[in-house]
Amino acid sequence: MRKNIVAGNWKMNTTLPEGLALAKELNETLKGKALNCDVVIGVPFTHLASIAAAIDTTKIGVSAENCADKASGAYTGEVSAAMVASTGAKYVILGHSERRAYYHETPEILKTKVELAMANDLTPIFCIGEVLEEREAGKHFEVVDAQIKESLFHLSAEEFGKIVLAYEPVWAIGTGKTASAEQAEEIHAHIRATLAAKYGETVADDCTILYGGSCNGSNAKELFSKPNVDGGLIGGASLAVDKFMPIIEAFDK
Ligand code: PGA
Repeated sequence: MRKNIVAGNWKMNTTLPEGLALAKELNETLKGKALNCDVVIGVPFTHLASIAAAIDTTKIGVSAENCADKASGAYTGEVSAAMVASTGAKYVILGHSERRAYYHETPEILKTKVELAMANDLTPIFCIGEVLEEREAGKHFEVVDAQIKESLFHLSAEEFGKIVLAYEPVWAIGTGKTASAEQAEEIHAHIRATLAAKYGETVADDCTILYGGSCNGSNAKELFSKPNVDGGLIGGASLAVDKFMPIIEAFDK
């Protein structure tokens, strides 16, 4: 059975004291609540260890937002997957469209990052998604297929079973334009069929596929009610507990 997950992606927001306060507030708010999904927060590198030590990590998984494509050594300023894992983080967001666009992360680089993350027992939350011109040209299916194939299809079925996917149409990220629930369901179903063709029905059925892009308390319920939408990767609305909670609580399946 696949998991439902609501994951926050704080991006480059909050100082350490602000981030700690936000994580602790979320921790307090979730105490004693029975949830229908796992909760994860993706936070800046500088916050990982302090947050992992301050909250109940059995209730809230801690994620990095990136990791290096090298294991260790003379790579000034980089943070390795082993370093991330040593903080108590259990997840790492990889291939976010902002990393692909602004930091030139190629499918090859991402393939290496996925391998390093998995070698350090981190669960990759691997992001895919098309830009507006690709959607308008009707190329979104082939774009996401290529992103999955180029960075993930070297994995064995057993390894692939540990990956979480996040479909994030770039035109919906931070724009207030959400994909409709029907658009999300259509492409999530397509992605699952691509996985089934490679790894078989069981692996495809068990893969958690999140939707991301202007997901909020008003649209989460409809998005998550779709059979192939297993949760969300949430940017802006994860930065305040009163905006994040309605998304977590949107899961009633
Ligand atoms: P958004 O970001 O929810 O602010 O659109 C989502 C993301 O980039 O992961």
